[in-house]
Order: sequence, then structure tokens, then C-alpha cells
Amino acid sequence: MKIDVATLFPEAFEGLKVGIIAKALQKQLFTLGLHNIRDYSQDKHRRCDDYPFGGGAGMLMTPQPLHDCINAIDPEHKSKRIFLSPKGATLTQSKVIELAGASALLFVCGAYEGIDQRVVDADIDEQLSIGDYVLTGGELAAMVVINAVARYIPGALGSEQSTDEESFSDGLLEYPQYTRPAVFNGMAVPEVLLSGDHAKVREWRKQRQIEITRELRPDLLKEEDR
Ligand code: ADE
Repeated sequence: MKIDVATLFPEAFEGLKVGIIAKALQKQLFTLGLHNIRDYSQDKHRRCDDYPFGGGAGMLMTPQPLHDCINAIDPEHKSKRIFLSPKGATLTQSKVIELAGASALLFVCGAYEGIDQRVVDADIDEQLSIGDYVLTGGELAAMVVINAVARYIPGALGSEQSTDEESFSDGLLEYPQYTRPAVFNGMAVPEVLLSGDHAKVREWRKQRQIEITRELRPDLLKEEDR
């Protein structure tokens, strides 16, 4: 998979290159191209912002550097072009899985009070939000999406890790997990997990998933299970 990012702050993405993501990059399971929008500005001072027509607070990103950056990265529009914005649909695990199936993704990060609408209209395929709150720019949001997507690239997770028994994989939160010691600070691991009875363990885990989801995220449950 090819992933590109258009941003005014490419250095922010160093924080993405840790752990499983760093290993996946080393193994060349995907490429991560970081492109500085400012490098495309035709302004003599390399400016990328200006005042909004009609007035209002703050500055907007001007269309020229953004448009040229996006189309230099993806001249034939082969990438799915995603603008990170609180106006987008909220990211879900099923969206993550859908994006992981794409061959090329281009994330466009806004800054200041936003970007000129003509770039959204002409150059963007989809807007995506990571939640109902406002960040100072799209960089953290892009890193969240890339991190979540990269886990689904074949080979990214070690053989001992998997995406099929985790929260949201079956519409429920994950069951609680325990490791050694069997008793810690007077708290014992649930008996059933030490029983060796795999069917019983499966049943216990399913039950706990339903209980935990009902308690913590009832909105995830089907009407009849709430
Ligand atoms: N940019 C600013 N806030 C954002 C959010 N909540 N999600 C995605 N991009 C954003």
C-alpha cells in the first residue's frame, strides 16, 4: 500500500513511526510519503494562508499550494484522497477495514481555520473526522487513521497478534484478559480461564463481552440485546 500525506507539518509524523508501524515501514509493507504543502506555494514568501472573504475569525489555507501539492503527489488521481475534518463522517473500525483495502491513500491535513472550499470540491474524495471535537490541524487525525489502517496490512501485526478477537471485530467490546501471576495483590484470575476447558472459556468470554458492552457502550448493542 502507498500512503501519502500533504501537510504543513511533516515533522509531526515522526511520532507515528514507532512500534508496529515502524516495523511495517522497515519491512516495506507500505510506503509513507510526507509532502510539505509549503514547498508548492508560488507566493514569494511561501505563504499558504490568507484572510477569509466575507470576514470572520482566523486565517484559511489558500487553494493554490494545496491544489498543486495534491496533484503533484497524485497526478492521475489513483489515490483515495481524504481530507481530515470535523465535518467528515466519524471514523469507525469498518471504515478502517475499507480503507485498508485501498491500494493508495492520500491524506490532506488542514491547518488554521480550515481550507478553501474549492479544494474540497475539486480535489478531495472524502472527508473523515476522528470525533466530535476540533483539533488545531489534521495531522493527529491523519496519524490516527494511518495507525488504525496499517494494522490491517497483511504482515503488519506479528503472528501472535490478530485483528479478529479485538474490540469492535464482532460489534462488541473485547473480553477482559489476564496473564501471570494467577493471583496478583490478592486478586485471582477467573477460575474458568485456568480450567483448560476451551468451550467453557469461549462461552465465558462471549458473556463478558456482552456484559461489558452493555455497561460501557450500550450504543453498540443491537436493540434487543440492550
Ligand atoms: N481536524 C480538526 N479537527 C478534526 C477532527 N476532529 N477530525 C479530523 N480532522 C480534524
